[in-house]
Amino acid sequence: MNNKIIIINGPNLNLLGEREQSQYGSETLEKIKETCSIKSKEIGLEVKFTQSNVEGELVNAIQDARKNFDGIIINAAAFTHTSVAIRDALDIYKKPKIELHISNIYKREEFRQKSLISDVVTGGIFGLGVDGYILAIISMQKLLKYEN
Ligand code: DQA
Repeated sequence: MNNKIIIINGPNLNLLGEREQSQYGSETLEKIKETCSIKSKEIGLEVKFTQSNVEGELVNAIQDARKNFDGIIINAAAFTHTSVAIRDALDIYKKPKIELHISNIYKREEFRQKSLISDVVTGGIFGLGVDGYILAIISMQKLLKYEN
């Protein structure tokens, strides 16, 4: 069955609720994790939710997902704009993958307006706040359903 997904979060997202509330809102990552877990269960997905501040750990998580997960939702945070290693790992992953950003990166500083991963993912969600996590889960469920 195609129903195991991983949500991978990059650097500083562990400080959601504390950092730049005007961009990211007041919800903590722990709360987002809980909401994701409830929504996933409701629509028949099994979800693992991870966060790391370390680029190599994110690369490892993406590589490991090749064997263990049917789809990836990734908020690569600042590494979105800098990491060729994360881009390459995502490119190697051949199943559905969704890029996610809480804020609208195209409305922010110039350095954020370039994503190194957009052209190697299935699709993306940005600028819709933390609801983007739920929207990504719903989209992922549809992508996995159509794959069968
Ligand atoms: C972010 C946007 C990135 O530019 C930033 O570095 C983040 C969060 C977002 O979710 O809006 O840490 O990925």
